[in-house]
Amino acid sequence: MSSAPGKGVSMTRFFTDNWENVQNFQAKPGDILVATYPKAGNTWVSYILDLLYFGQTERQTIPIFERVPLLELTSPGFGSGKDAVDKLPTSPRVIKTHLPVQFVPKSFWEQNCRIIYVARNAKDNVVSYFHFDRMNRMQPEPGGWSSYVHRFMEGKLMFGSWYDHVNGWWKKKQTYPNLHYVFYEDLVEDTGREIEKLCCFLGLSRSDEEKKRIIDRSQFDNMKKDDMVNYSSIAVMDFKISPFMRKGKVGDWRNHFSEAQSLQFDEDYRKKMTDVTLQFRCDI
Ligand code: A3P
Repeated sequence: MSSAPGKGVSMTRFFTDNWENVQNFQAKPGDILVATYPKAGNTWVSYILDLLYFGQTERQTIPIFERVPLLELTSPGFGSGKDAVDKLPTSPRVIKTHLPVQFVPKSFWEQNCRIIYVARNAKDNVVSYFHFDRMNRMQPEPGGWSSYVHRFMEGKLMFGSWYDHVNGWWKKKQTYPNLHYVFYEDLVEDTGREIEKLCCFLGLSRSDEEKKRIIDRSQFDNMKKDDMVNYSSIAVMDFKISPFMRKGKVGDWRNHFSEAQSLQFDEDYRKKMTDVTLQFRCDI
């Protein structure tokens, strides 16, 4: 694992090899960026957007990671996310990123693109990330759970500190109105309500029937069954170790953290998360 060129955030070559090209990416005014720390619900929201815009088209037969490319990814197997975005035939283009806010290519800000940031509570986020790193051969070896949690707390996992990520994007919201900040827990609690908010942010009106259909298709169990959104076609992921669509729950951290780990995590959390306006729910 290395740092993003000169910037001190942990990355692997899959995310740094194309760095300059990604930084020079030319966004279009209609582009919609879905930004998250890894494992906070990017696929879910990307899929909802794809359904809102293109649900009735033949694009539904294309894997979600091709419909909504990960901008900064580059690998021999996948090619370049930036090239994939450049070739997207749709309008709008929906684009995925895990970049901390300071690394987002400047053209997104210049073009005043709509950006949706999805954040998930730290404890469930680290659990999901741990299982993802176990099953994904492109990710660094996670090691044991206990050391993994510590590396998360130290901000040493890929894409850096969760704390800096969610806070950086939260601060950006204060100065950039075209940023919609969504909580994973709110989506789980009431997907329909959050889709309403998304429609409002995007200036979309969809019939009640259409919205019901989107809520249904984007439910965890339905996405898990759908090979076009469950990542089952990706060879580097070993679903025998852990599926991509794993649990989709709020509060699964309780099955992983010991009481001592949880207390230590909370104490450290309070020191790092000093902005009281940003509040997460670890249970709903
Ligand atoms: P778990 O590992 O906790 O199950 P990302 O897409 O950013 O990689 O995030 C993946 C996480 O989002 C996984 O969490 C996955 O199960 C969850 N997820 C994806 N679709 C979901 C849905 N429809 N409902 C609830 N959770 C979902």
